[in-house]
Amino acid sequence: MILVTGGLGFIGSHTVVALLEQGYEVVIIDNLSNSSLAVLDGITKITGVKPHFEQLDLRNKPAVHYFFEKHKNIEGVIHFAASKAVGESVKNPLLYYENNIGTLVYLLQEMTRHGLSNLIFSSSCTVYGQAATLPITEEAPIQKALSPYGNTKQISEAILKDTVNAYPAFKAIALRYFNPIGAHPSALIGELPRGTPQNLIPYITQTAIGKREELAVFGSDYDTSDGTAVRDYIHVIDLAEAHIVALARLLAAKNKSNLEFFNIGTGTGSSVLEVIHAFERVNKLKVNYKIAPKRPGDVTAAYADTTLANNELGWQSRLSLEDALRDAWHWEQKLAE
Ligand code: UFG
Repeated sequence: MILVTGGLGFIGSHTVVALLEQGYEVVIIDNLSNSSLAVLDGITKITGVKPHFEQLDLRNKPAVHYFFEKHKNIEGVIHFAASKAVGESVKNPLLYYENNIGTLVYLLQEMTRHGLSNLIFSSSCTVYGQAATLPITEEAPIQKALSPYGNTKQISEAILKDTVNAYPAFKAIALRYFNPIGAHPSALIGELPRGTPQNLIPYITQTAIGKREELAVFGSDYDTSDGTAVRDYIHVIDLAEAHIVALARLLAAKNKSNLEFFNIGTGTGSSVLEVIHAFERVNKLKVNYKIAPKRPGDVTAAYADTTLANNELGWQSRLSLEDALRDAWHWEQKLAE
C-alpha cells in the first residue's frame, strides 16, 4: 500500500492515477483545503479503481498517529500535501510553516516510529533561486529563499537530511519540480486554482475562455531572447511518472544514498511570450494580453539539467509544451461545461 498525502491535489491526483495504472494499492489522505471529492471520481473514472481515501488534516497530530496505527501495510509514502502559493506565503507565513513544515515533522515522526523508510518528497526548483549557470544541475548552490513558501522547501530538505542521518534505515528522494502544467488528456482531472490564478497557464486558459479579461505579462525587459522570463514547463503526466520511477527505485533499494535529489523538468526553457503563442497556435485562438511590470521575486530564467534523472531514474519527459497546452485548454473547457 502506498500512502499519497495531498492525493487529490493537482500533481497528487495525476500521480495516484499513474500508481493505480501500475497496479499499486493506494490510500489517499487529503484535507480538501485546495481540492474536492470530485477529483476522487475523476481518478476512479480514468482507472476503473477507487483508491482508499481518508479526509485528514496532517496538522492534526493525534489523527496522523491514529492513521498510522490503523494502516500497518504502508510500504511507501509520496508526500504532496502542502501550501504552494508564493504570494499567500508572504501574507501568511505562519500558515505556511505550519502546513509545510509542521506536517512533514509529524509524518516523519510516524514513519520512523513505525519503521517505514520510503519517502518521495515534493521539492521545487525554487531552492536554486536565480542560478548562476543554466541549465540548472542538482549541484547548483541553494540560494536564500525569496518567500516563506520557498523557505519551507529549503527547510524541508534540511529536515530530510537530518532525518536520514539520525535514522540510517530511512530513505527519501526529493524531486525538485520545475513548472508543472497541463492536465490528464481525458480532461477528467486537472488543476483547480482557487480564486484568481497566480500561475501562468491557468491565467491563460481562464483568459481564453473569457473568465478573465486580459493576461498581464509580468516584465518585458528581462535578459532573455524576447525580454520575457523563461521557465521549464513540464506536463503533469510526465511529472507523475517521475514519482513512480523514484518510488520503484526506493522499493527496490536501488538508491545510491539515503537522500537523493533529482531535477524534474523537460530541460527546455520557454519564455512567457513563447508559451502564449504556442497556446494560441495549438488551440487556434487568441489570448488577450498586455505587458505589465515585473512581478517581485520572479527570476529571469530557470530550466533544468535533467541528466541525473535521465541516468539514475531512467526517466525523461515525453510530452511537449504543445501537448500540455492542449490538455490544459481541454480541461478549462471541461470546467466550463
Ligand atoms: N506570469 C505572467 N503572468 C501571469 C502569471 C505568470 O507573466 O499572470 C509569468 C511569471 O512572471 C513567470 C512565468 O509566467 O515569469 C511563470 O509564472 P508561474 O507563476 O506560473 O510560475 P513560477 O515560475 O513563478 O512559479 C513556480 C511555481 C512556484 C515556485 C516557483 C519557484 O509555481 O510554486 O516556480 O521558481 F515557487
